[in-house]
Amino acid sequence: MGKKSISPGGKIDGIVELPGDKSISHRYAILAALAEGQSEIVNYASAADCRSTLECLRQLGVGIEASDGRVRVSGVGLDGLKEPRKALDAENSGSTMRMLAGVLAGQPFKSTLTGDSSLRRRPMRRVIEPLRQMGAEIRGSDGDCAPLEIRGGHLRAIDYATPIPSAQVKSAVLLAGLYADGATTVRESVCTRDHTEIALREFGAKVEGSRGTIRVHPRPKLTGRQLTVPGDLSTAVFLIAAALVLPESSLVLHNVGLNPTRARVLDFFTSIGAPIRVATVQMKGGELIGDVSVRHAAVSGGTIAGAQVAEMIDEIPMLAALGPFTEKGIEVHDAKELHVKESDRIATLAEGLRQMGARVQEFPDGLRVEGRAAGKLHGAKVDPHGDHRIAMALAVAALGAEGDTIIRDAECVGVSFPEFFETLDQLRRSTK
Ligand code: S3P
Repeated sequence: MGKKSISPGGKIDGIVELPGDKSISHRYAILAALAEGQSEIVNYASAADCRSTLECLRQLGVGIEASDGRVRVSGVGLDGLKEPRKALDAENSGSTMRMLAGVLAGQPFKSTLTGDSSLRRRPMRRVIEPLRQMGAEIRGSDGDCAPLEIRGGHLRAIDYATPIPSAQVKSAVLLAGLYADGATTVRESVCTRDHTEIALREFGAKVEGSRGTIRVHPRPKLTGRQLTVPGDLSTAVFLIAAALVLPESSLVLHNVGLNPTRARVLDFFTSIGAPIRVATVQMKGGELIGDVSVRHAAVSGGTIAGAQVAEMIDEIPMLAALGPFTEKGIEVHDAKELHVKESDRIATLAEGLRQMGARVQEFPDGLRVEGRAAGKLHGAKVDPHGDHRIAMALAVAALGAEGDTIIRDAECVGVSFPEFFETLDQLRRSTK
């Protein structure tokens, strides 16, 4: 695709069903692989990250057929994974690398996890540390980064308080806990997304506790299942934001995941005056799912800080890029983690928005994007630095700019939402 040109204007109008949630898809695939018997995963994410997980599992000897959002996994059982012949490539996917590190820590063979240049720069000590405490031998490159060489087996149960709120780290420890010699506990100061706990229970594991303390019992019998992945709320946020940027918009999103550990972003939208409605809520496979609708409205803006950061970590780039369309602007604090995502999201977002004429102040732990009074955005050439969420956030901001915006290397949206530009085109109507 290379460059993508975005012309401003029009309105968002329509009903859309989104591809499956990226976080849930990873977990279903991994647990289906460790289960006994066949699993079928419906509405599996189209995200490249989730294809990376399937590919790594194939290299570990798991039979997987995937077509049209349906993935059939022939589970090999907890002890059925095979030593891979080459390094497992998680490409751009932090979730793939960190969660598989947990699984591989429990295997009696040597494996290597690697990734693309972005993933090889991201901090891995956060998973190396607890998995070493459990008894796995893990070597990173420069101590902290991938490639990770893992030799596992004979794990001890630990009681681990995560120093940084991270669902990926929590999940790595819980997955390793399946292979430990007793019950493994993870404690977290902010309740991060709990899809791993829910999915473990769905596949038959014994998981106790909730709200900050989770305990998994070892050596469960996991059984293959048929599961449907809810639409991805983190992806929905880009379309909701587009509706808030473009006057006269009205959008309905069907079957979106509404897990409370993910849905804080909807509360935030409501708190800044976005008319969000949620309907037909039901529980499927332990996950809440429902329809979300939004109409255009003038939004006030506000601050994101404290626990909200971990709860909305993936949504912050889009929320911050809404700043120029709000009355008071958007300010983000306590978000140092954004420096170590697929890009340094504080720096890359600030750069892109400034190029479009926004007034942005960077802080060590966040940023402030001024509101409407700082002036209208203008089209520009912007570089998302290979980061899918920065590319989509800038594309949505471009809808409300004066003149066309060119997004460099726009194909990076495929990491989470390959259909992003197509979906936007389908929903965009002329206002005349
Ligand atoms: C994810 C957890 C978050 C999030 C990522 C997906 C997950 O990462 O940013 O996109 O699926 O568990 P951290 O655990 O690093 O916060």
